[in-house]
Amino acid sequence: MYKVKIVSDTKELAEVAVKRFTTLVEKAIAKRGVFRVSMAGGSTPRGMYVRLAQPEIAEKIDWSKIQIFWGDERCVPPDHGDSNYRLVKETLLDNVPIPDENVFRVRGELAPEQAANDYITALRGAFGLDPAGGHVNGIESRPRFDLILLGMGKDGHTASLFPGLGAIHETERWVAAHFVDKLDTWRVTLTPVVLNAAANVVFLVSGASKAARIAEVLEGPFRPHDLPAQIVRPTNGQLLWLIDEQAAAVLNKN
Ligand code: 6PG
Repeated sequence: MYKVKIVSDTKELAEVAVKRFTTLVEKAIAKRGVFRVSMAGGSTPRGMYVRLAQPEIAEKIDWSKIQIFWGDERCVPPDHGDSNYRLVKETLLDNVPIPDENVFRVRGELAPEQAANDYITALRGAFGLDPAGGHVNGIESRPRFDLILLGMGKDGHTASLFPGLGAIHETERWVAAHFVDKLDTWRVTLTPVVLNAAANVVFLVSGASKAARIAEVLEGPFRPHDLPAQIVRPTNGQLLWLIDEQAAAVLNKN
């Protein structure tokens, strides 16, 4: 199941997203001394990251206990304008005292498959898991994020799971690298294996251009090959769709 919260605009979207983030930070650190989050790329989350970096918010967070990952990355160097790492670095990481060793970017400058394998190794190390899918001390070997932030494209993609790609249906590998024809570019992405192992997933969606598609995703038939965002259904976690009024315009209101 999932929850939908409709907010008035992108400002309120950022506020609500930051509140959810800080609430989960407190819970995770109190429980296990660490908060692991996967950040969304694209433009929608920018306002949230800027807000999170503002002193009245950032000063209340123990950044030494926060580990930052990404849901996907474009296969470009970290200083490239398309880099999702650069987005988070400029809006958030450069403005808070998070240790470098707590930041686990996808190394987009590597060959795509190498970047994917490198990221799997980073996930294994940070989560202390065996990527072979075995069980360690009876715990299923999958990285279970405290929070995964995601966006949704106009075509219903999320992370870099684009319509028609095999990675939408991945059941073993944690990370996939694939060529996205429509964008003429390589991408590296978490697969549903990791997305659906999360304790909390929050989608951030804004703008009239998403309205028709989000109605299909949330209220239409289940067809994730065409609407990859539908594949995100945390097995044992909470899913929240944060949607502004423009993007929610076509949703069934009752
Ligand atoms: C990316 C993102 C992607 C993004 C959607 C929505 O690397 O582009 O991971 O999944 O979240 O494309 O992007 P906007 O927020 O810019 O609409």
